[in-house]
Amino acid sequence: MQVNTIPTRTLRPVPDAPAVDIIDQTALPYAYRIVRLATLDDAAHAIRAMQVRGAPLIGVTGAYGLALALAQRPDDASLNAALAMLAATRPTAVNLHWALARMQKRLAPLGAAERAEAAWHEAALIAEEDAAQCRRIGEHGLALLRPLAARCGRLEIMTHCNAGWLACVEYGTALAPVYAAFAAGIEVHVWVSETRPRNQGLLTAWELRQRRVPHTLIADNAAGLLLAGGGSCAIDAVLVGADRIAANGDVANKVGTYLKALAAREAGVPFYVAAPRSTIDFDCASGTEIPIEERSGDELRVVHGLDAIGQPGQLRQLALDEAVGNPAFDLTPARFVTAIITELGPCPATNEGLRGVYPEARHA
Ligand code: MRU
Repeated sequence: MQVNTIPTRTLRPVPDAPAVDIIDQTALPYAYRIVRLATLDDAAHAIRAMQVRGAPLIGVTGAYGLALALAQRPDDASLNAALAMLAATRPTAVNLHWALARMQKRLAPLGAAERAEAAWHEAALIAEEDAAQCRRIGEHGLALLRPLAARCGRLEIMTHCNAGWLACVEYGTALAPVYAAFAAGIEVHVWVSETRPRNQGLLTAWELRQRRVPHTLIADNAAGLLLAGGGSCAIDAVLVGADRIAANGDVANKVGTYLKALAAREAGVPFYVAAPRSTIDFDCASGTEIPIEERSGDELRVVHGLDAIGQPGQLRQLALDEAVGNPAFDLTPARFVTAIITELGPCPATNEGLRGVYPEARHA
């Protein structure tokens, strides 16, 4: 991916040092800032404070966080404490828990002397696999989008939150097919919902702008009108990512996703969920078992932006003691999902569909 035409990734190991550089997503879209994570605490903070965010990237950062902990102290106590600390940072995105479980399985049997290097190596593998899987999601998604594009000569896509390359190592999940379509010369335009209260839609607009993909930001509440065909366009498909997909195909994703799925169903618009294997939780029988993160009420009480002289700032729009609820995710029942686009191809959002793509999960 490119920022100001310079190729980069959301997370990059620092050469010859136990550290990684990340793009601080709390500063975007107002400032492009690189932050160095050199300790377990740095990594846990980055995930908790959403300097890194998006299910796949949280997983990769968790893996590197564990590697950073073991670079300082590779014994069992350190391993277990780091696993516990990182697992407690964010509950819904299962990629984090998947990555930590994979790291633990690889590292626990090793002696302390081998652990630090093996941890670094495994974290790098997870990052590379994520990039490769997202690229393949893009290819499979493009195959689904081509017939839609052929119908009207162009593609109108709606997305929610940010499931682009900022949420992963590269390419993104929901935006990977968009980038693939754009690269294939298909005329594509993306409707980006703002995604209150954290406004991840601004991140989506920022990264689409970096690639010069045409897009329009809308208030979340405008999505129903547009999906119903009441605006100046007809939406060809809704494409979103996921933080956790249960074994039956129910999808946990950024709060507001469910409303888009409902409106899409009513309007007959296909609703696709793009996600890699690490997002699918075969241990969760259905969406009701997925923990939904409740975040600080200040995310609603305080709005961020640029002030009159272009400096990043914040504005309190609600009294400190105003009661607010801030569930960060919602659940979209599988029946509203047209297909899940995995790195191995699309599948129905059902138990059979998912297990058909991942046969090894039969024995999980
Ligand atoms: O709270 P966030 O910003 O981490 O939530 C991100 C999302 O909900 C994304 O849609 C999801 O992680 C898929 S990312 C490829």
